[in-house]
Amino acid sequence: MKLIKTIKELHKEILPLRAANKTVGFVPTMGALHEGHLSLVKQCLADNDVCVVSIFVNPTQFNDKEDLKKYPRNVEKDCRLLNTISENLIVFNPSESEVYPEPDTRIFNFGQLDKVMEGKFRPGHFNGVAQVVSRLFDIVKPDRAYFGEKDFQQLAIIRHMVRQLKLDVQIVPMPIIREQSGLALSSRNARLTDVQRASAVNISKILFKSRNEMYKHLTIAETIKKVTDQINAVQNLEVEYFEIVDGTTLQPLNDWSESEYVVGCIAVFCGEVRLIDNIVYNS
Ligand code: PAF
Repeated sequence: MKLIKTIKELHKEILPLRAANKTVGFVPTMGALHEGHLSLVKQCLADNDVCVVSIFVNPTQFNDKEDLKKYPRNVEKDCRLLNTISENLIVFNPSESEVYPEPDTRIFNFGQLDKVMEGKFRPGHFNGVAQVVSRLFDIVKPDRAYFGEKDFQQLAIIRHMVRQLKLDVQIVPMPIIREQSGLALSSRNARLTDVQRASAVNISKILFKSRNEMYKHLTIAETIKKVTDQINAVQNLEVEYFEIVDGTTLQPLNDWSESEYVVGCIAVFCGEVRLIDNIVYNS
């Protein structure tokens, strides 16, 4: 594995490979890696000649500065984990000034995509994500880039950005990886106490139950209320939003029959830790 800190060094590695017509895959991360990230890296290694993994905690996407401060950082541990799957990786771990030599003042227009859910509750978050991802794409110039479906809205936003900026990169979505308990893997899980973790597993349990048992009998409004009430009844959990939306436009639905791709997206506070998850009701 090669750990690279500067764009110059990265280009020295990648440009000769590009010139030799090798394909470059890219997995952008903020570190605190887990099996979810590793599934992206494994797919990236399988699809491409070269796999670049970036580890960069992007300050512009944190609307809550406390959250930025508390974001888990351990590059050495991340590298050890990456080494367990391949020694053939390029890890790009730039400084803030390397990524943003000047403040990024670009404002993106995502239409209605960022007016709901995460976009509504984390103002400016997706603008920051688009800033860093477009900047990293510009640096790495990947043929393919891999993103997890756990960040469902982020994936839609990045696809939109790629179309808008006419970028020549294929976005590859990867399924959510869950613990055996059903809890969606997230870097933020590391901040949960044992008691909070025991509460957090109920989020996916209740979502799955809503798909398996309730959804055929209840309206969308009733499902939203029931899921929200059930999760709020669990100790330590507080739902920030639960929306049932069209999986492409992300706009809320009133009736199950309005879309062939119905997705429920949720954000829940477990103590101070904010967790997100989603479930496809039909597709
Ligand atoms: O999903 C993440 O970890 C981040 O939002 C990303 C895509 C690496 C951009 O900082």
